[in-house]
Amino acid sequence: MSLKIGDPISLTIHDLAFGGEGVGRLDEFVIFVPFVIPGETVEAQITEVKKNFARAKLLRVVTPAPERVAPECRYFTQCGGCQYQHIDYAAQLRYKHKQIADLFERVGKISPERVAPVIGCPQPYHYRNRIMIRSQWNGPAKKLEIGFIRADNNWVQDIEECKIAEPSLNEQILQVRANPPPRGGLKFVLRVQPEGWSVPKDSFFQNNFFLLPELVGTVKNFLAASGARHLIDLYCGVGFFGIEAAGAVENFVGVEYDALAIKAARENAAIRKINNGEFVAAKSEEALPELLKKFPTENTSVILDPPRKGCWPSLLELLRATRPAQVIYVSCHPATVSLNWRGCSRWTCSPRRSTSSAWLTCAAENSRNLNLVLNRNRIWGIKIMITIKIRTSPIETELANGRFLVSTGKFRWPTTIKTTPETRFSRASCRGCSCSRCSACMR
Ligand SMILES: C[S@@+](CC[C@H](N)C(=O)[O-])C[C@H]1O[C@@H](n2cnc3c(N)ncnc32)[C@H](O)[C@@H]1O
Repeated sequence: MSLKIGDPISLTIHDLAFGGEGVGRLDEFVIFVPFVIPGETVEAQITEVKKNFARAKLLRVVTPAPERVAPECRYFTQCGGCQYQHIDYAAQLRYKHKQIADLFERVGKISPERVAPVIGCPQPYHYRNRIMIRSQWNGPAKKLEIGFIRADNNWVQDIEECKIAEPSLNEQILQVRANPPPRGGLKFVLRVQPEGWSVPKDSFFQNNFFLLPELVGTVKNFLAASGARHLIDLYCGVGFFGIEAAGAVENFVGVEYDALAIKAARENAAIRKINNGEFVAAKSEEALPELLKKFPTENTSVILDPPRKGCWPSLLELLRATRPAQVIYVSCHPATVSLNWRGCSRWTCSPRRSTSSAWLTCAAENSRNLNLVLNRNRIWGIKIMITIKIRTSPIETELANGRFLVSTGKFRWPTTIKTTPETRFSRASCRGCSCSRCSACMR
């Protein structure tokens, strides 16, 4: 197919790829177009041509899909934060379910029937409790832009509000704008502190409070179903899962390499008078061997909640070798969890052997997170229960992770602004590949 940048095209969209781009074909050549819906016929203009695919920008929707709705955000399609606001929320959930099922089938070799429907967020807008905004000097306009990276290039889209952020974050955005940062090229995080949890300013906390009960409930249910008496909570942050599930086990240990988060985890446990657990500041992959010697594996459940890049291979191999009673995998990146899962499925059982005893349960939603729960029952490799819980944001956001500089309460500029030079991300070429090099993969 001889396509050139700038060529006008007309095509029908037949799928939504992971990340939200529509997939159409011209003579079997794949073209990705953003902000479209399967079934739509659109006019677009080629912006990038690669060996096996091309990208195009949407010019006009010729035949709109019935699921098309007016986006709430005035910056939608310019701001790179959201990809799905033009799709009715119930349809978003169906498309996200399909994306996850496709990914699991292709990468993880898991039958799509095993992926349960996505459970929606009770609050599709104004749910996000943490956002990162950037400042950038716009030379030609002689103006400091404050906002998110744009959808079509790496410049900053100036914003006055974010429809997916919690209201108090929108107040903070206004305060930032009223007290603009000293210069461009800075990035900073606005955050709502979770009530009742001590969280150091640079430490992690789940970024959708509205889905926390669903998430915790699911993990606790699986834990209870396993009958495990001991819990190892790896990548534990400020102790969230271990503390929430403490009542279901005799004892637990949380492992986290952020020493300040571990200090906070101890405080969080103490406030709740939870004294059957301990918290260790260490890398999970380094701490696990000793922990698995300490706890009887046949009675131990292991929670994994790693960052986007997934688990260290040696950690997964160790779990395979030691066969704890249950592994609960909470993940924020379907591509890496599929890869990690592929390893697991190879270790455990072929689809044929697992089908009869495999089961799936609900999927819950929370900013693009996906929970895969491999619930191993008694004999590794013979009986396996698989639970996949999907948490994806109602309106997916591409906000990259950054340093947390501003916390809640009265807004003021931090004395130590992290002057991270803006990185030139290759978002446009990201295919949800988990390469850890572009903003889409570094979230
Ligand atoms: C997705 S967060 C999960 C935190 C926690 N489970 C929660 O729900 O709040 C991942 C955590 O893993 C930590 N982390 C990243 N790599 C790690 C490693 N190799 N060993 C231990 N902790 C790690 C990060 O600091 C972060 O707190």
